Amino acid sequence: MVLGTLAVIVGYPFAIYLIVQLCIIIYDHVIVPHFIEPFPLSRWSSSSSPWAIVTGGGSGVGRGFAEQLARRGFNIILLGRSRISMSECQESIRSRSPNVDVVMEEIDFSRPVHEWAQRVEAIISNKDISILVNNVGINTEIPVVYSEHDLAHVQDMIQVNCLAASAMTKIVLPLMKQNGKGGIIFLSSCTGEFASPMMAVYSGTKAYIRRFGEALSEEVKSSHIDVLVLHPYYVLSKMSGFRKPSLLVCTPTVFATCALRYLGRKVVVQPYFPHLCLDVLFSLVPLGLSLRFQLNRMKTVAVRLMRRKNREREASLGSGSSAEIEFQRGSSHSSTDIDCEDDDKKALLSPPALITQ
Ligand SMILES: NC(=O)c1ccc[n+]([C@@H]2O[C@H](COP(=O)([O-])OP(=O)(O)OC[C@H]3O[C@@H](n4cnc5c(N)ncnc54)[C@H](OP(=O)(O)O)[C@@H]3O)[C@@H](O)[C@H]2O)c1
Repeated sequence: MVLGTLAVIVGYPFAIYLIVQLCIIIYDHVIVPHFIEPFPLSRWSSSSSPWAIVTGGGSGVGRGFAEQLARRGFNIILLGRSRISMSECQESIRSRSPNVDVVMEEIDFSRPVHEWAQRVEAIISNKDISILVNNVGINTEIPVVYSEHDLAHVQDMIQVNCLAASAMTKIVLPLMKQNGKGGIIFLSSCTGEFASPMMAVYSGTKAYIRRFGEALSEEVKSSHIDVLVLHPYYVLSKMSGFRKPSLLVCTPTVFATCALRYLGRKVVVQPYFPHLCLDVLFSLVPLGLSLRFQLNRMKTVAVRLMRRKNREREASLGSGSSAEIEFQRGSSHSSTDIDCEDDDKKALLSPPALITQ
């Protein structure tokens, strides 16, 4: 009798709590990204000609954001390293959204901030900067144990993944504060949530972005500036190496479309639903186990990527092409001759490919 009453007193509220939580999850992660329209432009801009900046916007995830923001009426500033990919992106935006303006500036974010900050300030002056997408990021082409990681590349990664986003935010914040509105998007990664062996530096830089964005969101709330931190798993791109979409690998267009619906609604979010399922799964696994699993997985990935590189290299040599795929190590461009077809260990101990992406 007593137990029955207790079960009713505890059980019903608990069941109601679970149902409410489930409704919140369904609303947040199924309804919002797929059915709710993003806020109108007026949330982030009061002018008739708002601008959005996308760093590393020429390809991959950045291009997805640039195209989707242009579709919504933002003029676009592309900041990136490769003029060719930015020109392609510019053409694609102009053909789909003829009414928006697209400008671009070649900037190498691995260079010290003082070498490019003034050029950014010049390009944004007299423009109503409403959105900043801190997208630019690099990783090692092949996962590598930290003891083998080239120090010059470690520095580049911290510079590009952390400092570029921090400096860009510092540059645009005064303008947004002056306007009393704006939006800033940060690209963290699942490895910023769950540490990834053989990607220690990348993982660390993405954890920085995650915490930086989260902390900033509260500081700028009173100025009506929305901050959104995204931490995806796989999106089709040069960096991820995936060439075809699948359930767990979305296209940059799908990713950016889902993500933009959260700007102003959430601060830290996993915008693509299948990635959220992975988050839930990984959060249930004890840390020690997930680290061991991830290390073993990364070893396999490294060997597979190294083999793929070798096959591509052999193919290019076999076809009589003089072009040789080089494994770059820091600034020295020495080619290495790694035959790891049947020797996994050798592949892992070989010099890592450190081509920035
Ligand atoms: N794709 C994923 O699965 C995934 C998952 C989690 C997080 N992310 C994050 O999403 C962001 C975009 O990744 P992505 O997959 O789209 O990468 P990506 O395909 O390699 O594209 C990165 C873009 O940044 C540019 N870039 C690279 N280094 C630069 C530098 N030093 N200075 C200026 N521009 C530079 C690249 O230009 P070039 O054309 O010259 O190389 C390219 O346009 C990154 O922050 C990444 O960490 C991606």
